[in-house]
Parts: sequence; structure tokens; C-alpha cells
Amino acid sequence: MKKVILGVTASISAYKAIEILREFQKRGWAVKVVMTENSTNFVSPLTFRSLSGEDVITSQFRDLKSGLEHIELCENSEALLIAPATADVIAKFSCGIADDFLSSLYLACKKPVFLAPAMNEEMLLHPATQRNLKRLKEDGVFIIEPESGYLACKEEGEGRLAEPKRIVFNVISGLGKEMKRVKVLVTAGATREFIDDVRFISNSSSGKQGVAIAHEAALMGADVLLLLSASSCEKTFVKTERFDAVDELRKRLKGRDFDIFFMTAAVGDFKPVRRFKEKIKREGKLNIEFGMTHDILKEISQKKREHQVIVAFAAEARDFIERGKKKLLEKEADILFVNPVRSGVGFSAEENEGYLIFRDGRTKRIERASKEKVSKTIIKRVLEYYKGISGGGNVL
Ligand SMILES: Cc1cc2nc3c(=O)[nH]c(=O)nc-3n(C[C@H](O)[C@H](O)[C@H](O)COP(=O)(O)O)c2cc1C
Repeated sequence: MKKVILGVTASISAYKAIEILREFQKRGWAVKVVMTENSTNFVSPLTFRSLSGEDVITSQFRDLKSGLEHIELCENSEALLIAPATADVIAKFSCGIADDFLSSLYLACKKPVFLAPAMNEEMLLHPATQRNLKRLKEDGVFIIEPESGYLACKEEGEGRLAEPKRIVFNVISGLGKEMKRVKVLVTAGATREFIDDVRFISNSSSGKQGVAIAHEAALMGADVLLLLSASSCEKTFVKTERFDAVDELRKRLKGRDFDIFFMTAAVGDFKPVRRFKEKIKREGKLNIEFGMTHDILKEISQKKREHQVIVAFAAEARDFIERGKKKLLEKEADILFVNPVRSGVGFSAEENEGYLIFRDGRTKRIERASKEKVSKTIIKRVLEYYKGISGGGNVL
């Protein structure tokens, strides 16, 4: 089981470290908690002891068994994460002060170190804190930037601890090795074609499957860019750009480099021949003429370089494999995932199922599961294919 050391310091947001611990556990990680003495004023070590199932170290001279824990702990863990990190601990780390257990542990740690600052805006923007953060970045520490929002001092501002899920995502993806240096491009969600200034034609794609694929690839260490539809409400933890109409998506895709491209977006086939001005009045009949949109996927497939892999997605009402094979050839893609148009799976649903179809005619059934689980299987198979054609390619 992979293990992370979670360092907790004396910020008002120390209680959020509980959620961070739980999030790691949900992902199958063990967590060893180390607290500064000051932080025990905010959360009791007993809480972390009970939830982690491990003793919590709060002092340089008490709580220790061998006395060498500051050296041994990191050797048996994947990473050291300080969340929340106070201005004080940031200053100590940047100067190499080791006057308590956590700062001694930091100096002795040869594993990746992640730090999530949390403090009031003035403290964060103070030249001293900025200088210390800059120095820590130069020393190779990964800084998980704080967010803007409502702070404990009852002010809106910068300095709020990054969301726990985002912190855990950043740590695991920062450590990901299987897809390190692989450039992954993902599109997700529905395109919208406006009829007038307020009405549009679209489809019910939520973007969930594409976002899950982008996240899964990032967790495996890939360099991910996600193009997500403006209409999608999905939260993302990877670099994300938004698009609306098919032409906008086409423009955003132009010239983008990738090793693996997942065209998960549900791109509309039709668009109004002309866009009406303002808002069409409710008067009599309305005839709208539709024309075809660009076949973006086919355009990209036709320019594909040797070691690139293109994965298409299709939703079909029946004859999945037959129709999927036909579409794979039409789009000139390498692999196609076809899922049924049926209630409970695919469009807007939490779950998915279907078939992965390969260029050489092989098919692989993917059983009904959450979209996250389906993504894991899709990525595993696509990665095998990518390694096969690129002779390992960029994969470690
Ligand atoms: C109620 C309260 C809330 C605090 N919140 C923060 C905070 O969010 N960020 C921070 O850098 N310091 C905060 N401080 C100041 C730190 O607790 C103080 O600098 C302390 O010495 C840090 O100890 P440590 O870095 O050893 O954990 C807070 C202090 C109090 C009394």
C-alpha cells in the first residue's frame, strides 16, 4: 500500500487536513500524520490517530520510538505533503531551520515534497512569504497554490487552502509515472450551435466521461489538456479550456500536439445555416434550415503522425459492434469506444459500458461501471496499444 506523510501546521484550516487524510484513504493510500505542536491547538492528535490507525508525531523529543523517525519516515513513504502550511513553516523550510520534528523531517526527506499554503491574504502577499515560496520552488518543492475566496478573517481574498480533493489529486498526479511525458489531449461535453441570441441546438452530453479520462491520465502522470464544453458543470483538476460551437472546438484543436487524443466530446452533426438576430419572436411557424458541421475528428485523423493514437467515441442505439467498426473506419481513428444510447448509461449518466474496437478488428467488452472505472479500463487498453505502436514511445 502506498503511503504519504501528512504534515499539519497551525492554520485555522487545519481541520481540512482530516478531509485530505480521508481522500487519500478513499484512493487506497495509507497516511502517517505529523503535527507541529502549535497545530494541536486546532485539531486533536487523537482525531488523526483514530482515522489513520497510526500514532501521530507531534514533538521532536516525545512520541518517538527509534529516535530516527525524522530519517526513516520518508524512506518508507512516497511523498511528504504539508497541508495546511503556515507562513511560519514555509519560512522555516526555506531557511533550513530544523527546530521541531516536522522541519527536521523536511530537511532529511529525499522524496518529493508538496506544500499547500493557507493564510490570510496580507500574510501570503507579504514579500517575505513570497520570497520564501519562490526559494522553496527553486529547491524543488511543489507548491499547491492557495485559492481565492472567503477567508477566516471574514474577508474575500487570496490564501484559502486549496480544496482537499485538488490537493490529493495534485500529489498523486505529481507522483504518477506510467504516463509520464505522454501528451494527452481530451475533448469532452456537448457542442452548442446558436439559432438566435438565446436559443441553441445541442445534445445531453455532460462531459463526465471525458473529464474522468482526463483525470485518470493525469493521475498516471500524463501531461493533459482538456477541452471542455461551456455547458458542462463538471469540476476539473487538469489544465482546461472551454469551447462552445463546433467551429470553436475546431479552432482550439488546430495545431495541438498530442501522443494520444481522446475525442470524447459529443460534437453536433448539424448547425443552423444562419443565426437569427436577437431573439426570434413567437409568431406563427418557424422554419430553420440546418447544414452539416465540420467532421473535426476525420480532419485530425487525416493529419495524424506515425506514433500518434486517436481514440474516437460513439453512442449507438443498436448493432454496437457493427456500427462501431463502420464508424472507426469512417473516422480513420485507431480505437473506438462505442456505448449504448440507453437510460442509466452514457449520455448524462453516472455509469457507462460498451465495447472498445481496435483497427485490427479486435473488440473488448467493457462492463457497466462508474465512468471513473470505465476510464481506467479504457486508458489501460489504449496505453498498451500506444506502447505497441511506439515501441514504448514516451512511456517509462
Ligand atoms: C486563530 C489563529 C489562526 C491562525 N491561522 C493561520 C493561518 O491560517 N495561516 C498561518 O500561516 N498562520 C496562522 N496563524 C498563526 C500561526 O498559528 C502561528 O504562526 C504559529 O506559530 C504557527 O505554528 P507552526 O508553523 O509551528 O504550526 C493563526 C493563529 C491563530 C491564533
